[in-house]
Amino acid sequence: MKIAVVGLGNAGLPLAAVIAEKGFKVVGVDVDARRCSQINKGINPIPQEPELNELIKKHGGKNLIATSQYKDAANSNFYIVIVPLFIDDNHQPDFKFVKSAFRNIGKILKKGDCVVLETTVPPKTTETLIKKWLEEESGLVLGDFYLAHSPERIMTGYSISRLKEFPKIVGGVDTKSGKKAFEVYKKFVSNLSLVSSARVAEFIKVIEGCYRFANIALANELFKIAEELEIDFFEAREYANHEYCDIHMPSTGVGGHCIPVYPWFLINEMKGKNKIENSLLLRTAHLINEEMIEFWAERIVEGCMKIDKPINEVKICVQGITFRKGAKSLYNSRNLALAKHLMEKKLNVFVYDELLSKEEIVELGLKFIKPDVADLVFDCFALEMKK
Ligand SMILES: NC(=O)c1ccc[n+]([C@@H]2O[C@H](COP(=O)([O-])OP(=O)(O)OC[C@H]3O[C@@H](n4cnc5c(N)ncnc54)[C@H](O)[C@@H]3O)[C@@H](O)[C@H]2O)c1
Repeated sequence: MKIAVVGLGNAGLPLAAVIAEKGFKVVGVDVDARRCSQINKGINPIPQEPELNELIKKHGGKNLIATSQYKDAANSNFYIVIVPLFIDDNHQPDFKFVKSAFRNIGKILKKGDCVVLETTVPPKTTETLIKKWLEEESGLVLGDFYLAHSPERIMTGYSISRLKEFPKIVGGVDTKSGKKAFEVYKKFVSNLSLVSSARVAEFIKVIEGCYRFANIALANELFKIAEELEIDFFEAREYANHEYCDIHMPSTGVGGHCIPVYPWFLINEMKGKNKIENSLLLRTAHLINEEMIEFWAERIVEGCMKIDKPINEVKICVQGITFRKGAKSLYNSRNLALAKHLMEKKLNVFVYDELLSKEEIVELGLKFIKPDVADLVFDCFALEMKK
């Protein structure tokens, strides 16, 4: 069994390393040639990911060979694809990376090979677009090759431990594909279940994100209501939660490239079927989460007005602009959106983030400050206003 992992990013590299650790020869394909060369030298490009340094040091350039050329993976018979899928400003999925990866695999695909998509996609993508791109490029038809979906369920910062323990699922575009993919994954994933189809596997990952998205909106709404009623939300939440109740933490909204993205896959599908009313809760959750920027901006302005200085001279520090604690990414960052919103209000806004250097902050067109010299600090993760 020769395995190729296509996309050696935050999700793909830990998976490739875990497979290599199980004793397989893995070819990692990534369009970023610099990243590949680093990996082959045993250097981990994601040093903040626990346990990954040792795995890359041990397997980089040995059991795990990284390359930017798809032809170097032509001897493989099992392909796993984890490249990004973003949504555009109109919330439509942009398949450019996924399409390019599958068209390239199609060019080297042979009879008997198995291809598995791990990127989260709208339900039915694997059985339609992915199958089509592979068939068009290879000249083969499904049945000559196997095709399945197995959504990546890691969380940056916990990738290796999640890959070792977290339940993973796989579903085929047809029965044989499901069984084939399951047999191979079983060799390196311990907690694995086979589901009835690729579309069920796709849906499982999307609805998991929708659950979080709607529950974050619920927490945000309850937080605002508690504030109006002069009730300590956090105290109430602590005692409200039990086995059947999981009220999430409120926030400045939902960031990152997963949770705010996946609900749109379903909203778009319903829109396409003239059934937009079926997605009322998801659309409302989006509005509630988006409104949190203005909510916190108002609290910050109120905080500034209590300081004995002209309001536009109050040094405001927005602390924590990465999209969540521990993840060095600004993708869809609501905290960054909050900082920019305050700047638009002509306030004297600075930022601080323990994961970003002063230079990185300045490069973003923002002003850096250490929290202890600011007049007012808004901690985006603790949701606290400090002097
Ligand atoms: N990071 C996470 O925590 C996480 C969690 C669950 C699921 N996922 C899924 O994984 C997908 C990828 O996320 P990520 O965090 O790894 O992204 P990333 O941006 O960290 O990495 C993507 C990698 O793919 C490479 N790439 C892009 N197009 C390519 C192509 N055509 N061929 C080969 N390589 C290509 C890029 O160079 C990059 O190294 C997401 O879209 C999501 O569906 C990620």
